[in-house]
Amino acid sequence: MKKVFKWISVVVGSLLGLLLVTGFVLFLMGNARLNKTYDFSPSNIVIPTDDASIEFGRHRAQTLCEGCHGADLSGIENWFSGGPLGTIDSANLTSGEGGVGQEFTSDEDYVRAIRHGIDPEGKPLFMVAVVSTSNLSDKDLGAIIAYIKTVPPVDHKTHGQNFTPLAKILYVLGVLPQMPVEVVNHEIHVTAPEAGVSAEYGEYMVNTNDCHLCHGPQMNGGPFPDPTKTKISPNLTPGGELAGWSEEDFINTIRTGVTPGGHELDPEFMPWESYRNFNDDELKAIWVYLRSLPKQEQYTE
Ligand code: HEC
Ligand code: HEC
Repeated sequence: MKKVFKWISVVVGSLLGLLLVTGFVLFLMGNARLNKTYDFSPSNIVIPTDDASIEFGRHRAQTLCEGCHGADLSGIENWFSGGPLGTIDSANLTSGEGGVGQEFTSDEDYVRAIRHGIDPEGKPLFMVAVVSTSNLSDKDLGAIIAYIKTVPPVDHKTHGQNFTPLAKILYVLGVLPQMPVEVVNHEIHVTAPEAGVSAEYGEYMVNTNDCHLCHGPQMNGGPFPDPTKTKISPNLTPGGELAGWSEEDFINTIRTGVTPGGHELDPEFMPWESYRNFNDDELKAIWVYLRSLPKQEQYTE
C-alpha cells in the first residue's frame, strides 16, 4: 500500500512541477514580449502653431482622448483595474510633473505613442485606442499634438502598466488582447477625406474614434475590449435597432445618451459623454455611413 502512495505522490508532484515550470516559461515569454523594443521611421509630421489648428486639435481630443485621459488630460489612475490581472493608469498628457510634456524630448515621441503604440524607448504601450489613432491623417494627428502641447500643466504621477505574472501568462496564451503595436498596420498612411456630410467622412470618423473597438470590424456588434467585462456591443448596421431610427434620433442618442426607445446608454460601456462633442456635420456623416453599411445580424458569442 505504502508503495502505491509513494508513486501517487511522485506522479502528482511531477505534474505540479511541470505546471509550475510551464507557467514560469510562459511568464518569461510574456515579459520578453512586453519589453521588446520597436522602431519605425520618423513621420516628419509638421506640428502646426496657428490657433485654428490648435482649436481643431482640441475638438478631436474631446471626442477621442478625454474619455481615457480625463477632462484635463492629466491621466486616470487604475483606468483598468483587473483584480488578479493588475492595473493600467492612462498617462498624464500635460507638461506638469509626471506628464509626457516633461518626459518626451521630441514631437516624434508623440507620434510613436499615438500612431504606433510605443513609448520613447520603443516599448509597447497598452493603449488600445492605437488601433483607431493609427488611422489619423498627418494633419489631424499634428493638430492633436499641437493642442496637447498647449494644455495647462497638471502635476500628476501615473504608473502605466502594472501587469501581474498571471496577466503575462494569459497574454501569451492569447486570452488577453495583444499589444496594439503587435496588431496595427504600421505602413498605412491615411489621407482624410474632405470634411462634410458624406459616407466617406463618416467612415473616417468611425475608424478614428474607436467605434470598431467595441462595435466590431463590421459594426454589427462585438465583445467588450475589457476582458473582465461581459458586455456585447449592439449592431449599428441597418440589421439592428438603428434601422427604425431617423438622423435626428441618432444625433439625440449620442447627445443625450438616451435611445428613441428610452434606453439609457451606460457611459461606463458606451462613451457617449465624449462623443456628444462631435459637431452636427460629423454626427450626420457617421449616420450616413452607418446607413450605407450592408445589413448584418447582431454579433453573438
Ligand atoms: C481607450 C483609452 C484611451 C484612449 C481613447 C486614448 N488613450 Fe492614450 N493612453 C491610454 C492608456 C491606458 C495609456 C497608458 C499605456 C501604458 O502605459 O501602457 C495611454 C498612454 C498615452 C501616451 C503616453 C505614452 C508614454 O510613452 O507614456 C500618450 C502620449 C497618449 N496616450 C496619447 C493619447 C492621445 C493624444 C489620445 C487621443 C488622440 C489618446 N491617448 C487616447 C488610454 C487611452
Ligand atoms: C468602449 C466601447 C464602445 C465604443 C468605443 C463605442 N461604443 Fe457605442 N455602444 C457600446 C455599448 C456597450 C453600447 C450599449 C450600451 C448600453 O446598452 O448601455 C453602445 C451603444 C451604442 C448606440 C445605441 C445602439 C442601440 O441599439 O441602442 C449607438 C448609436 C452607438 N453605440 C454608437 C457608437 C458610435 C458611433 C461609436 C464611435 C464614435 C461608438 N458607439 C463607440 C460600446 C461602445
